[in-house]
Amino acid sequence: MIKETIQNRRTIPLFDAERSVDQSIIEDAIIAASWAPNHHLTEPWHFYQLGDKKTAAYTELLYEVINEYKGPALAQSKKHKAGTVPGWLVVTCTTNAETNLMLVEDYAAVCCAIQNLMLVLWDSGVGTKWSTGIITRDNRFYDVLGIDRSQQEIVGLIPYGYPKKVPEPRARKELSQILTQTD
Ligand SMILES: Cc1cc2nc3c(=O)[nH]c(=O)nc-3n(C[C@H](O)[C@H](O)[C@H](O)COP(=O)(O)O)c2cc1C
Repeated sequence: MIKETIQNRRTIPLFDAERSVDQSIIEDAIIAASWAPNHHLTEPWHFYQLGDKKTAAYTELLYEVINEYKGPALAQSKKHKAGTVPGWLVVTCTTNAETNLMLVEDYAAVCCAIQNLMLVLWDSGVGTKWSTGIITRDNRFYDVLGIDRSQQEIVGLIPYGYPKKVPEPRARKELSQILTQTD
């Protein structure tokens, strides 16, 4: 049931490093992502699946960037943790929309696509963590991936894999706090 999948999906901080994810699972989830609603059918998303070389370049850069902001100890621990992740996706949004409204709507559509992606993966037992850490806004990351920043912006860096542990959910607001029924 879709409701259970939505409620049970959790952001996964740690993955089983020994277990890789079948490519067909990833591709099915990307196809499902592309069925997200998108105004004017702009299909503003693009999915980058990192291979070994880009993953290595990313983890090197992660060390460099975190070291600059927070020092070598945290940089080393983040790099080590990144090395345990079975797979990485980067999702971008086109930024060549004609108006600001279309830009916002394209971004909204990409967010819907990411949610589709994460839910379909979760349905197959695969966890994700949508992240927007500083590296996703660093020009060097765009360079590593060969993404032209004048054409696309990164909306999420998404590590994926089978969860090592599923965190307990944090409670959401009550319905009465988020629903206003008008006359
Ligand atoms: C746009 C966006 C950016 C996020 N960026 C991060 C991030 O950088 N690091 C992180 O740990 N989680 C990030 N998250 C995940 C949220 O922290 C997470 O969804 C929230 O804590 C609720 O947990 P749940 O997904 O398990 O319900 C992001 C989520 C969204 C939608």
